[in-house]
Amino acid sequence: MNVSSIQKYRPAYHYSPAEGWMNDPNGMVYFGGEYHLFYQYTTHGAKPDFANMHWGHAVSKDLLHWEELSVALKPDDNGAIFSGSVVVDQDNRTGFFNEEGSGLVAIYTNAGNKTIPGKDQVQSIAYSNDNGRTWSKYDGNPVLLPADTADFRDPKVFWYGPSSEWVMTLAVKDRVEFYKSPNLKEWSYASSFGAEVAGSHRGVYECPDLVQIPVDGDPSNTKWVLIVSVGDRNGINDSDPEPPAGGSGIMYFVGEFDGTTFIPDDQVTSEGDIRWVDHGSDCYAAVTWSNMTTETGNPLWLGWMSNWRYANLTPTVDWRGAMTIPRELALETRSGKETLVQRPARELGQLGAPVVSLKEVKASEAQSALSALQLDSYVIRAELDAKESLAFKVRTSADQETVVGYDSGLKELYVDRTRSGQVEFHEDFAARHTAAVAEPTDGKLDLLVYVDRSSVEVFASRGQAVITDLIFPEPSAKGLGLLTEKGDLKLHSLEIHALTSEVR
Ligand code: FRU
Repeated sequence: MNVSSIQKYRPAYHYSPAEGWMNDPNGMVYFGGEYHLFYQYTTHGAKPDFANMHWGHAVSKDLLHWEELSVALKPDDNGAIFSGSVVVDQDNRTGFFNEEGSGLVAIYTNAGNKTIPGKDQVQSIAYSNDNGRTWSKYDGNPVLLPADTADFRDPKVFWYGPSSEWVMTLAVKDRVEFYKSPNLKEWSYASSFGAEVAGSHRGVYECPDLVQIPVDGDPSNTKWVLIVSVGDRNGINDSDPEPPAGGSGIMYFVGEFDGTTFIPDDQVTSEGDIRWVDHGSDCYAAVTWSNMTTETGNPLWLGWMSNWRYANLTPTVDWRGAMTIPRELALETRSGKETLVQRPARELGQLGAPVVSLKEVKASEAQSALSALQLDSYVIRAELDAKESLAFKVRTSADQETVVGYDSGLKELYVDRTRSGQVEFHEDFAARHTAAVAEPTDGKLDLLVYVDRSSVEVFASRGQAVITDLIFPEPSAKGLGLLTEKGDLKLHSLEIHALTSEVR
């Protein structure tokens, strides 16, 4: 295989494996000064082999440069290694570690289990006392068996201080089940949420996460946010709506958690009550980093940048799958409602060489500054009056462009990838995606557009509206443009920073 065809579409600053297939992020934990990223991984061939799923592993010190390490967990007698999480066992409650130090414990699903009849998906644990480089599986695996369903997976575990025990959220067909444990080895059922949620059962629930987040940055006022990915396969109720951009997507609920039960603030009794995290088609199975919060007490997460609808058809060679940029999650009151917002991790905001930096500039001047550029990986930061409309054209050539814009009449953010490059590999790929933008309080609209060789991630109104979309433009499509209806439109600011980590 020639090198350039392997590197075609390889992101400049998003994590992608050197070769093989990657889906969900797993076991993300901050430990020993490193951000760990494990992930669903099939080592050879760029297609998922569910009978042969591993945990791949990469680490980063700055959330931009990722180093790929050797595979962390391989299939065993209990089955393939599906999604799960990692926690730090601070006080050696598992007994896996010696007196001096804490270590890492992975809690994951073994899928395709043949050793226990009728129990296809079971939960198992493994531990590492060398910063996640090598792992030993617990000889008492599996540690949690399903009562009656085939879909019983994706354990995400966190320490719940008030009752001094670990809590697990688990995706169980049409619901999230909560389990508790003092030592990660013995688990007891606590409660369940979701079967009663209207309109959200098009696919099975997957990769849940429960996180406590300050409201409007106030650490004394927190809410619990339950995050649930909804799959595109194994549909339960075909008449339920799809996520906003079709296929698989992520929803969230804001509420209270007392260590046993999650109670949403608002009852979800119709489709319109469902709140989606991302309005593009390519942010799935996102979960938060364990053992860390940002300076503001917020969680950090990232997602798999694809969609089960077409994930194994995307036009990369010898590798397939990339992660979103790491993002901070915050809860902010918008239009009177506590709303989950996403912003690029602060670390990313501090990087990149400025190529354009303009203030109070006319659209015509901005247009000529942009038309001089040829870039494939960068971030655009713009601010304009919320009553104006504008669009950026990114990754353009004579016949290719991805349009990212804000329509003030409709109060809508959009990404149009119908002419973005290769789109024919699936009939649903060529599409325009939209997200409603809440009225900015100060009358100004901010836009952040992260462009890479095979993706755009767009954040508007301080992260309230987010669209994540894959694109596959030719490497030579590096033009940039600005579209406005009014020639004399003024932007309050426009900055472009070239962004790359060139990991390989
Ligand atoms: C979500 C998912 C998980 C499962 C994993 C298998 O994308 O289907 O539910 O653990 O992928 O690779």
